[in-house]
Amino acid sequence: MASGSTAEPNFDLFVTNADAENHARTCYDTPHMPSNIQGTYIVSGPAWWTGPSPGTTGDYQMQGIFDGLAKANTFVIGNKKVCHASKWMNTSIARKAEEIGHIPGMLFEESVPPRPSCPMKNKFCESNVMVDNNWVNVIEIGGRVVMLSDTPHMLVMDLDTLDVTGNLVWSDDKPSGTGPNPDWASPLHAVASGSAHPIPFHNSNTYVDVVTEVMEGPGLCLFPPVDCHFLAVYTFESDVSGMQSRKHLRSLPFSSAPYLHSFGVTDNYIVLPLNQKIGVPNLFKPTLLGLIKKHWFGIYVLDKQGQTVEVFADMDEFVHVHVINSYEDDTGVVIDLGAYPDTPFAKTGAMDIKMFKNKGQRDSNPGRATLQRIKLHLTGPLKGQSEVTKFAGAAAAHADFYRMNPEYYGRSYCYFYATEWWHDESNYASMAIIKHNTCDDTQTYWTKTNFYPGEAFFLSNGGDLEDDGVVVFVAIDGERGASSFITLDAKTMTEIDGASVQLPFHIPFTAHGEFITDHGAITV
Ligand SMILES: [Fe+2]
Repeated sequence: MASGSTAEPNFDLFVTNADAENHARTCYDTPHMPSNIQGTYIVSGPAWWTGPSPGTTGDYQMQGIFDGLAKANTFVIGNKKVCHASKWMNTSIARKAEEIGHIPGMLFEESVPPRPSCPMKNKFCESNVMVDNNWVNVIEIGGRVVMLSDTPHMLVMDLDTLDVTGNLVWSDDKPSGTGPNPDWASPLHAVASGSAHPIPFHNSNTYVDVVTEVMEGPGLCLFPPVDCHFLAVYTFESDVSGMQSRKHLRSLPFSSAPYLHSFGVTDNYIVLPLNQKIGVPNLFKPTLLGLIKKHWFGIYVLDKQGQTVEVFADMDEFVHVHVINSYEDDTGVVIDLGAYPDTPFAKTGAMDIKMFKNKGQRDSNPGRATLQRIKLHLTGPLKGQSEVTKFAGAAAAHADFYRMNPEYYGRSYCYFYATEWWHDESNYASMAIIKHNTCDDTQTYWTKTNFYPGEAFFLSNGGDLEDDGVVVFVAIDGERGASSFITLDAKTMTEIDGASVQLPFHIPFTAHGEFITDHGAITV
């Protein structure tokens, strides 16, 4: 087991290989877990960096935290127990890595040593790979658990066995060198990225999603500002259990290709904060860090049909990764998000394994988000103007992984939960779970010495109030050198005795979790 510095014991476990074996379902007594919370919390993340398959040490070491082979974890909650299981994700990229001896395709960072060159007869072999290391997020479509990343491809997972059963197939798929793409994608364009955060209209089964279409053959795009790249906006239905077509709404043209990780959806609008661009990769050994750059397009507000209503570009430029929530008010749209000074998709202590392990480098990382509310006036005397208000919070702290009561997505709301780093404003490994009250702009938080939490997920207990429920998350317990599943009372942000679990092993970095009720539907 890895050890960290004395001051921050075992913080390195976030980037230390998980157990090579899968873990069969093991149950733990949680007598004080609220009895009406029944279902499965699923959360995944990169968990093997040193070889082409779990349990191996190969020639090509991963440098990017996000490049690891993925392991999925489930926590089945109910009957006064929490039962954990985990399994390595059987993705096409994992199978390919096992076959060729290194993780192929678009990586965040090049391996050490660099991957071998492709043979002359197939010199773009690293680019013609379906990238489906989809550990980033989870949604439910037609009763199926679907794993997502910033790719156009979605994977179906069997929740009982944790087996990846294949690509989610759409009736408008057409084949390409990097896997199936929508048949409405623009000719001469590569579907380069998707969003890991499709979201539905409020109380609706209609989800909005996007893909970026990059002009293939950069020579065709040498004369900016030619609008040769597109951000395509489409919808799908989450209650369709069979095959369906994606409904293409609009392909917004741009002279640079936008990169969009998350966005907002209200009753009548789609809100796209466009502040990063993605460049054309090195086709021989494609890597993502350095390819995504800050680029201010403005905030696009589209109607439900995909037509542009207004573009707001009058505010101070920022970069966002995650939207907290968005909703309509009397004169327009409000969008809350975390605003970075520059793209966080850079080689920093948050992305690079070596820098993550270096306390000086991780502590001095300037990539910290400011929580802010942006009011976009669509009508009234301020039509076309924006107003930005920063939320309260420690200036040098950093909060991300925003979650809230899903009943309030797209609605005026009071509470969101987030994971915080630099809680003490000086040490990256000083971590907390914050509860931000947007109605009075105050924060409460949970923190525990040498505990390093992942994303916090709100689970309603059926009460009427927005914060009637619990907050659950996985945290590395630095003193034990293993992970815990922790349950807080969402009202007080205090741990509920008898509702948390101490696992006997660690779970490395994890991303966005989701809760799936026992009857199969996500509690949205
Ligand atoms: Fe995300």
